Amino acid sequence: MTHYTEILAQLNKKPEKWLVTGVAGFIGSNLLETLLKNNQYVVGLDNFATGHRHNLDQVKACVTSGQWLNFTFIEGDIRDLATCRLACESMTYILHEAALGSVPRSIADPINTNENNISGFLNMLVAARDANVKRFVYAASSSTYGDHPGLPKVEDKIGKPLSPYAVTKLVNELYAQVFADTYGFKTIGLRYFNVFGRRQDPNGAYAAVIPKWVEAMITNKPVVINGDGETSRDFCYIDNTIQINILAAVASDDAANQVYNVAVGDRTTLNDLFELIRAGLTKQYPHLKNLSPLYQDFRAGDVRHSLADISKAKNQLGYCPSHRINAGVDEVLKWYVKDIVG
Ligand SMILES: NC(=O)c1ccc[n+]([C@@H]2O[C@H](COP(=O)([O-])OP(=O)(O)OC[C@H]3O[C@@H](n4cnc5c(N)ncnc54)[C@H](O)[C@@H]3O)[C@@H](O)[C@H]2O)c1
Repeated sequence: MTHYTEILAQLNKKPEKWLVTGVAGFIGSNLLETLLKNNQYVVGLDNFATGHRHNLDQVKACVTSGQWLNFTFIEGDIRDLATCRLACESMTYILHEAALGSVPRSIADPINTNENNISGFLNMLVAARDANVKRFVYAASSSTYGDHPGLPKVEDKIGKPLSPYAVTKLVNELYAQVFADTYGFKTIGLRYFNVFGRRQDPNGAYAAVIPKWVEAMITNKPVVINGDGETSRDFCYIDNTIQINILAAVASDDAANQVYNVAVGDRTTLNDLFELIRAGLTKQYPHLKNLSPLYQDFRAGDVRHSLADISKAKNQLGYCPSHRINAGVDEVLKWYVKDIVG
């Protein structure tokens, strides 16, 4: 039994109350699914800015009707303090995912990104502090490493942010630290590195690379690589991300008021990723056999290389990623083929 399966067994015996913000989004809906499948009580908050009702419907379809009854949905906005207070009432743990993601979106509209990601975050911190929750776990980001050249990325060595989005995620960490120092509030920030998996949105101008490419390949559209394809990332399958959220929520107070890298510790270039997805889909879609990507200019605000040192999360939270990139891509391709093709 791993540390994670032990924690899940304990939670099943003694269910807790969880608030998941951004519950209709990619990561939020996956957290909801795991929590409900483990018989937890969950309140979810979302304003559908980038999330979808169909994500909630999919969760409903894969839990029992009894488990679904343990879920309460609040359609609302974290930019409204009263809504945050309502959602936080009598919660034990908060998993705060709601934010506007995407570096390019933040470059196009920094004010909106700031309002959602900083003012909304501060509302959630105040509401959670006043509701006396046990732990506030929040989605931080690898973008906080900014222009620091060091690889692999270690939590205490960050550079200057390269985008408005990165500024907002850095400010989240600063506020969390100040709330720890000033009010004794217990938080954990999870610096996600390119999460991917089921229910990640392939549509829209700001879609993430894996769902966008899978959708493009299946529907016969060009696959665009920004730059020379040698940009690299530490892609992290959703199951690893779910695991660390639950571990962070229940971890002892010694592990609190810290940030942790969430990835696998594997470096994959965009060229490698293209090949992995193309090869994975070729059996079912033979037209992809000789597909080549279309190379375009580098994108403003993008970090060139990103690779995590995950030893802090392993040592202090007992994190043990269950999926490396190949296993994650295998699972997600099956899911997209079913979901996109129908
Ligand atoms: N996916 C990644 O690779 C990645 C990497 C680093 C950090 N993150 C962070 O993880 C979190 C979840 O990301 P995701 O990939 O699931 O994105 P997502 O867009 O699928 O989910 C975000 C959810 O938050 C909701 N939301 C946004 N603004 C809101 C508001 N003002 N009030 C209420 N709900 C609001 C959206 O409707 C959406 O359902 C975000 O904070 C994001 O910045 C994600």
